[in-house]
Formats: sequence, C-alpha cells, structure tokens
Amino acid sequence: MTNPSLLILAGDGIGPEVMTEVRKVIDWYGAKRDLSFDVTEDLVGGCAYDAHGTPLTDETMAKAQAADAVLLGAVGGPAYDNLDFSLKPERGLLRLRKEMDLYANLRPAQCFDALADFSSLKADVVGGLDIMIVRELTSGVYFGEPRGIHKEGNERVGINTQRYTESEIARVARSAFELARKRDNKVCSMEKANVMGSGVLWRDVVTEIHAAEYPDVELSHMYADAGAMQLTRWPKQFDVIVTDNLFGDLLSDLAAMLTGSLGMLPSASLGAPMANGRPKAMYEPVHGSAPDIAGQGKANPIACILSFAMALRYSFDEGDEATRLEDAIEAVLADGLRTADLIGEEGSAPVSTSEMGDAIVAKLDASL
Ligand code: IPM
Ligand code: MG
Repeated sequence: MTNPSLLILAGDGIGPEVMTEVRKVIDWYGAKRDLSFDVTEDLVGGCAYDAHGTPLTDETMAKAQAADAVLLGAVGGPAYDNLDFSLKPERGLLRLRKEMDLYANLRPAQCFDALADFSSLKADVVGGLDIMIVRELTSGVYFGEPRGIHKEGNERVGINTQRYTESEIARVARSAFELARKRDNKVCSMEKANVMGSGVLWRDVVTEIHAAEYPDVELSHMYADAGAMQLTRWPKQFDVIVTDNLFGDLLSDLAAMLTGSLGMLPSASLGAPMANGRPKAMYEPVHGSAPDIAGQGKANPIACILSFAMALRYSFDEGDEATRLEDAIEAVLADGLRTADLIGEEGSAPVSTSEMGDAIVAKLDASL
C-alpha cells in the first residue's frame, strides 16, 4: 500500500520554523510507529508571491486538491501590506479553503492544566476548559457578492455581503452535531437573528436539522454578542459552538486567548469525503505568521504540532496516535518547559522553538 500524502505549505513568518518541528514529529511516526507519509512541500502566501507573483499558483492548488491532507503554517507579513487586495498572502489561504470547499473549521479551545495560571481569567474559570468552535469557512461575508469598493457620486463605498444558503448552514450544523455526539452532546448555535436575515435563516435551519436528525443532542441558541460575553464569563458552560464565518473568526480568537496562548491552538478545516473516504482537509495553527518574532527561534511550535495531531485523528483514523502526541505535549508542559509566549514578566528562561520540538519528540520516545 502506498503511504498517505501530505502537502506541507509552511508559508511566511514563523510558519517555516514551526513546520520544521512538525517534520521531526512526522519523521518520528515514520521511524517508530510504521506510520509514514509522502510529504511534499510547496509555497503559499507572501513567499509564493515572491517566487511566482501570486499567493497561490494553480499548480499548488492542484496539489492541495490531490493530497490526502494539507498542513499549513501561516501566511502574511508587513512586506505584503501594500499589495493589491487580490495578491495579498491571505488570498492564498482563502482560495485553498474555498476551492477545496472546507466548510467546517474545527477550532478547539482547550486549557492545558499546566497553563491555567497563564490565562487572563481566573484559573477556576478556565481550568479544564475544553470547547470546540465549529466555524463555517467557505461562505458568509468572506465570500458573498457583491463585494469591493466602488464610487457613488463623490465618495467611495465599501461593500461586503453576508449570504448563506440553507444547504450551507445545514452541512456545517451536521458537522457540529456529529462532533457533539462524541463529546458532551451539547451544541450552542450563535448568530445575530435579532438583526440579520441570514441570522434568522441560520437559527431556523439549525433548529430543523436538530429536530429531524439530532434530537438526542442538547441544542441552545445565543446572539453572537451575548455569546462573546458568556464565553468570557463562564466558558465551561459550552461544549460545541457552531457559528458563521465572521463570528467564528472573532469568537475563536477570544476562545483561544481564554486558554492562555494563541500559540497553543490547532485547527482542522474539513470538507466532503474524497473517493478514498477521507475528508478533504487542511490543518493549520490558529495563530498567524508573527513577523515580529520570525526567524528568532522564539515561536511556539505546539499549535502546529497539535494541528498534525488533528490530521492523525480526522484524516488518518489514528486517534490513539493523536492522543499519544497530545499526551507528549501535556507532559512537556508539565515538566515546566515554556516557549517565550508562555512566560510572564518574571518567568524563567524560555526554551527555543527547536528545543520545544525536541522535547516533544523525546516524550514520544518515552511513550513507547
Ligand atoms: C483565521 C485568520 C484568517 C481569517 C485571515 C488570515 C484571512 O484570521 O484563520 O482566523 O480571517 O479567516
Ligand atoms: Mg482569525
């Protein structure tokens, strides 16, 4: 049997550094668990623009479509701020999401015990936190038409359109309900049905899918602004949150920060099953390219390594190996190892990106 294929798009800023650590983990699985991947690397974002004049070439897009899973680092940087909108690094990422039709973006926010004190909230509010935000990723105001900036009389007008079809809402709702069944069986749907037509439809469709297909799951609804408030007040009331593209963007950053560091959180973006039964999938850390610390060995590789753990679980049906990797990370943190982002004003000396990667691999070894 041939090995499953993995396309690595490390991207810009700290992307390549954190991906180097993921490669160590991938190599470990090949050497020690007989779990090998055919890894190909390519460019996305600013580095693709530098090389080819576009943030994502058609060739790279085709490779992503053909891969069993895509692993992405991060895109963007100040060097590209003044590029035309259509050439910005982010467009490469959005094109991947859209053309692969990765409609369900899973963003777990989990608080590692060793880091509970690092959150801006009290340890008892965040300790043991484990929620999953399911963000719709291929529609809504990110892609709706009309969009852009045009002239009306003497002034410019900027337009974006929030647009959702029933089927777009239904499929992401199903993803959320399915996940909830494997967790605490609760879904909270967030929209602005008090202001937006798309929000009214969102609430209706989620309610219909629930009644027809998932009556065993506990469903609640919240306006997204109240949801943000509840997330900071008592986040442990939530299990799975399902929401649209823009609210999901905001709420997932908020949820990420509850856990102490954006540098810790992975994500999975999943689409429909391919011919081989695996979902179309891309895995990426929630954090960005952090150009201010790029190239200095300061970045935390954990979010990207946890993204690979999600790939093991959701693309390759290797849930036990995913758990092994997550446990290795817990163990390293419990030992007190911290990258710079996890150290407060008076903390001890941080470890470098590669020291963190090596320590995780050592814990994997110890797990055998
Ligand atoms: C994210 C990011 C992206 C988004 C940007 C980089 C386009 O913020 O993945 O959350 O807005 O979706
Ligand atoms: Mg975001």
